[in-house]
Amino acid sequence: MSATHPYRTLIIDDNESVHQLFVAMLSRESIHSARSQPAGLALPAEAIPAAQFPLFEVDSAFGGEQGLECVQKALAEKRPYTMAFVDMRMKSGWNGIETIGHIWRECADLQIIICTGHTDFTWHDIIKRFGHTDRLLMLKKPFNVMDVRQLAYALAEKWNLFNQAKSHLERLQNLVAERTAKLQESNESLQHNIAQYKEAQEDLRRQRDYNDEIIKGTPAMVAGIAPSGLATFVNPSVCKHTGCLPEEIIGRDWWRLFYPGPEYRQVEHLFSLLQHGPVRDYEMVLTTKTGGKRTVNWNFFNKCDEAGRPAELIAFGNDVTEQKQAEQGRRLMELQLRHAQKLESVGQLAAGIAHEVNTPAQYIGDNIRFLQQSFAQLAPLLRQHESLLRALKENTATPELVAGCEQALRQCDLSFLIAETPRALEQSLEGINSVTRIVHSMRDFSHPGSAEKIPIDLNQTVESTLIVAAHEWKYIANMVKDFQPDLPRVPCLPGELNQVILNLVVNAAHAIADVTGGDTGQKGTITISTRRRGDWVEIQVADTGTGIPEAIRDKVFDPFFTTRSVGEGTGQGLAIARNVIVGRHNGTLTFQSQLGVGTVFTIRLPIHPAQASQLEEKAA
Ligand SMILES: Nc1ncnc2c1ncn2[C@@H]1O[C@H](COP(=O)(O)OP(=O)(O)OP(=O)(O)O)[C@@H](O)[C@H]1O
Ligand SMILES: [Mg+2]
Repeated sequence: MSATHPYRTLIIDDNESVHQLFVAMLSRESIHSARSQPAGLALPAEAIPAAQFPLFEVDSAFGGEQGLECVQKALAEKRPYTMAFVDMRMKSGWNGIETIGHIWRECADLQIIICTGHTDFTWHDIIKRFGHTDRLLMLKKPFNVMDVRQLAYALAEKWNLFNQAKSHLERLQNLVAERTAKLQESNESLQHNIAQYKEAQEDLRRQRDYNDEIIKGTPAMVAGIAPSGLATFVNPSVCKHTGCLPEEIIGRDWWRLFYPGPEYRQVEHLFSLLQHGPVRDYEMVLTTKTGGKRTVNWNFFNKCDEAGRPAELIAFGNDVTEQKQAEQGRRLMELQLRHAQKLESVGQLAAGIAHEVNTPAQYIGDNIRFLQQSFAQLAPLLRQHESLLRALKENTATPELVAGCEQALRQCDLSFLIAETPRALEQSLEGINSVTRIVHSMRDFSHPGSAEKIPIDLNQTVESTLIVAAHEWKYIANMVKDFQPDLPRVPCLPGELNQVILNLVVNAAHAIADVTGGDTGQKGTITISTRRRGDWVEIQVADTGTGIPEAIRDKVFDPFFTTRSVGEGTGQGLAIARNVIVGRHNGTLTFQSQLGVGTVFTIRLPIHPAQASQLEEKAA
C-alpha cells in the first residue's frame, strides 16, 4: 500500500466506546505497540513497521443524520471518505439501513461496513434492499480486531485501486474524448473537404456539360488528332461538313481520310508550319465522303502532356466554301463592272475622240487638196521646161518654145506655190502626228488590262488619259501638268489605273462646269501632279470646282452614290477608283475639299506593293 495520505474513515454508531475502539484499532501506534492502546483494550500488535501500515483518519458520528452531514461536508471539501462503519441499530433517528440509503444517494461510491450484533437483518434483506454490491460488507459484533484491520486494509487498498482505476479510466476517457474530438474535427474537415470536392466535381461536371454543349452546338468544326494522325474526337459539325459518321472518322487517319492523293501536299505544308507553333487561318481543301471539295479555314494548336510533349492536335475549322464562292462571284462582278465602265467610257469618249481626230484630219485633207491643185498647176510648167531643156541640148530651141514656158510660168504662180507647199506639208505632218498621238493614247487607254501588275510610267499613263479625255475637259478647264520627270516606274494594272485617272479628271471637269455653268468660255483649272514620296508615288488631281459638301463626304466612295441627275452619273466612278487603288494596288485614295474652292484627290501607290501589304498585315 503506497498511499501516504490518510484514508478517511467514518464511524456511525451511537455508542461512544465503539468509536474509541475503532480509533484504537486503526491507529498506527496501537498496531505497532500494545502499550499505546487505550486502557482496557488488549489489541494485538502487528509485526510490521508502523510506516507500512496505512494511515486512517477516523471521524465520528453518533447517529445516521450526523453521519450524512459528515459525508456531505467531506464531499464539499473534496476529501471524500474511503469507508464508513455503520451501526445497524441505533437508539434514536435512522437505523443503519436508512442511514446507508441516505448516504448512497449523496455518495454512491462510499464503501460501507454494516456493524451488527443482531439478527434483525439478514444479508438477504440487505441485498433485497440495495441489490448486489461490492461496496457493502457486514461485520459481526463483537469485533475481531484482525478482521477489522484486514477489512480496513482491504477496503483502503480497494479504494486505492478503485481510485487509480477511476483516474486511469478518466484519463482514458479524456484521451478517448480528446481523440474523439480530434477525430470529430478531422471527420468534419473531411466532410467539409468531401462536400467541397463534390461541389468542385459538380462544377466541373457542369462546366464540362456546358463545354460539351458548346462544342456539340457550334457550327465550327472541332476535332482532336493524335500525333499518329488518328482522329480522337469530332463534333457533329465535322460529320455534317464531311458527310461521315463519327465512327467512320474516329480511329482513322484524319489526314489521309480528308486529304487523299495530291491533296496531301497541303498536310505536308501544314506539318512544316506546325513545327513553329500554333497555325491560324490555314485554308485547306477537304475531300468529303462523296468526293466533294470543301474549303475549310483551320486553326490548329497542340495540346501537350505533363512532360510538355505534343499529345493531341486540336483543330477548329470553319467551312468557308460558300463564302469563298461568294467572294469569287463578287470579284468577278467587280471585274465585269470595271470592264463595263471602261467600255462605257470608251464609248462616251469615242465622240470626243472622233472630234479630236476630225480637226487634224480635216486640215490634212485641205492641205493635200492644196498640194494636189498645186501639183496640177506645176505639171504643165514642168513639161514645158522639159521640152525646152531637150531642144537646147539638141540645138533645136525656138522662140515659140521659150514663149510657151513663159506662158506656163505666168499661169501657175510659182512663188506662191514655193512659199505655201512646205507649210502645207508641215501642217499635214503635224496633223498626222496628232492623229497618231490620239490613236496611241487610245490604244494605251483601252489597254485590255493585264492580270499581272507591270512597272509603268505613271506620267505617260496620265498623259495618254488626258489626251483621250481631252474633249471632256478642254472646253471647261485649263490643264496644268506638274509631273516629276524622273518618277520611278510603279507596278500597276495599267488598264485599271488610267480608268481611275479618267474618273477623277471627269469628276473634276464636272465640278468645275457646275461652277462655270458649262461651255460658257469661262474656264477653271485642273492641276495634275505626280511626285515620289519615299516608297510611294503620289498622283494628285486638283480642281477649282464646287468642292464636296461636308454632308456627303463620307458617302462619295459608296457604290451608286451620285449627286448628278438621272442619266448623267451612275455613282460608280469613285467606288471603282477606290476598289482599284486600295483593293488591287494596296494604295490609298483620299481627298481634301473646300466648298467653293475646290477638291484635291490624292492617289498613293506603293513602289514595292509586296512590302506594303506586309506592313498592312502587321498593322492589322
Ligand atoms: N472633284 C469633285 N468635286 C466635287 N464633287 C465631287 C468630285 N468628285 C466626286 N464628287 C461627288 O461625288 C459623287 C460621286 O462621284 P462618282 O464619280 O462616284 O459618281 P458620279 O461622278 O456621280 O457618276 P459616274 O462617275 O458613275 O458617272 C459625285 O456625284 C459628286 O457629288
Ligand atoms: Mg464620276
